[in-house]
Amino acid sequence: MSVPTTIRAARIHAFGGPEELRVEEIPAPTAGPGEVLVRVLAAGLNPLDYKMRDGSSGKAKLLTLPAVLGREMTGTVLGAAEDVDLDALGMPIGAQVFGVRGLDDPRGTYAEVIAMPAAALAPVPESSTADPLAAGGLALAGVTALVTIEDARIGEGDTVLIHGGTGGVGQLLIPLALQAGASRVWATGRAANAGRIAELGGAPIAYDETDWEAAIDEATEGRGVDVILDTHYFTTFAPSLDHLAEGGRIVVLPSLADLSPATARGIDARIPSLAPSRERLDRLAAAWADGTLPLEVGEILPLDDVARGHEQLETGHTRGKLLVDLR
Ligand SMILES: NC(=O)c1ccc[n+]([C@@H]2O[C@H](COP(=O)([O-])OP(=O)(O)OC[C@H]3O[C@@H](n4cnc5c(N)ncnc54)[C@H](OP(=O)(O)O)[C@@H]3O)[C@@H](O)[C@H]2O)c1
Repeated sequence: MSVPTTIRAARIHAFGGPEELRVEEIPAPTAGPGEVLVRVLAAGLNPLDYKMRDGSSGKAKLLTLPAVLGREMTGTVLGAAEDVDLDALGMPIGAQVFGVRGLDDPRGTYAEVIAMPAAALAPVPESSTADPLAAGGLALAGVTALVTIEDARIGEGDTVLIHGGTGGVGQLLIPLALQAGASRVWATGRAANAGRIAELGGAPIAYDETDWEAAIDEATEGRGVDVILDTHYFTTFAPSLDHLAEGGRIVVLPSLADLSPATARGIDARIPSLAPSRERLDRLAAAWADGTLPLEVGEILPLDDVARGHEQLETGHTRGKLLVDLR
């Protein structure tokens, strides 16, 4: 497969609003030591992307402008550095792979060709049910969901409440919590999303039509739940602390969340750290391919519409994953 000399990519030249995203022709990257060159098919959009774009993420200081944005993607292998044995990794030239950049790798994924550390990639298995393009949105939300479930230490019979059950991470948390042994999973979301929560095996609580605090009190007969997984945080974190059972744990997703109201009360509260590994990516891919971890794609946008994707994400009400098509 030939590697082009220039590629299309979405970059920012300054921190700011979605209008800062520009689709430009830039030189194609080369694979450094330990890296694989990938022809990107689709890149996933994540809230972290707009926090990098507007400079509010702590990781934005790692960017050198102009910078390509995006953290995750799927694509086909074009080649690799000399020290990478693609066959031994199960990712020969032409194979479809997916992956996510670690938080300290500021290079983006909204580009036709990227260089990725081999350790941040895994092969995409054949699937009779899943759309191969959807693998572009699996890695970041998926690794986050796996770490969130591990941090929450969900045990057999635990009851779980998830805030934001139909977001990119939330939709993966519902089946993963059940697979970890949860006896009951409630998930908040708008009434419009209740059907999707139920499809995933959760009991929906429509926060826009009912008082979720009263609903969870009634459902647990005032006991509260063992675990809360809070993907929203802003309006849900503080009141959630009053709905945890004795010894309950809470895991909050936004990285800049202030956990002190929980720790001051002796409540185990954590923020998951995005830690991709080949083992986690393989586990995700297998579950995605066999349908036990379904990934809903809300919309696939052309690269030229990536700014519109950021606008949608910033509403905080997208469903499943948004993807950018780079084919
Ligand atoms: N710590 C980490 O490593 C890590 C990794 C990934 C993501 N994150 C962070 O985790 C958060 C979620 O990520 P995501 O990709 O799942 O976001 P997302 O796809 O944008 O989903 C946001 C979800 O929040 C729900 N929501 C909005 N207002 C709500 C409310 N008042 N109560 C309950 N739910 C509400 C929305 O559902 P409705 O439309 O039904 O309201 C939607 O399902 C983001 O802040 C992201 O930056 C952290």
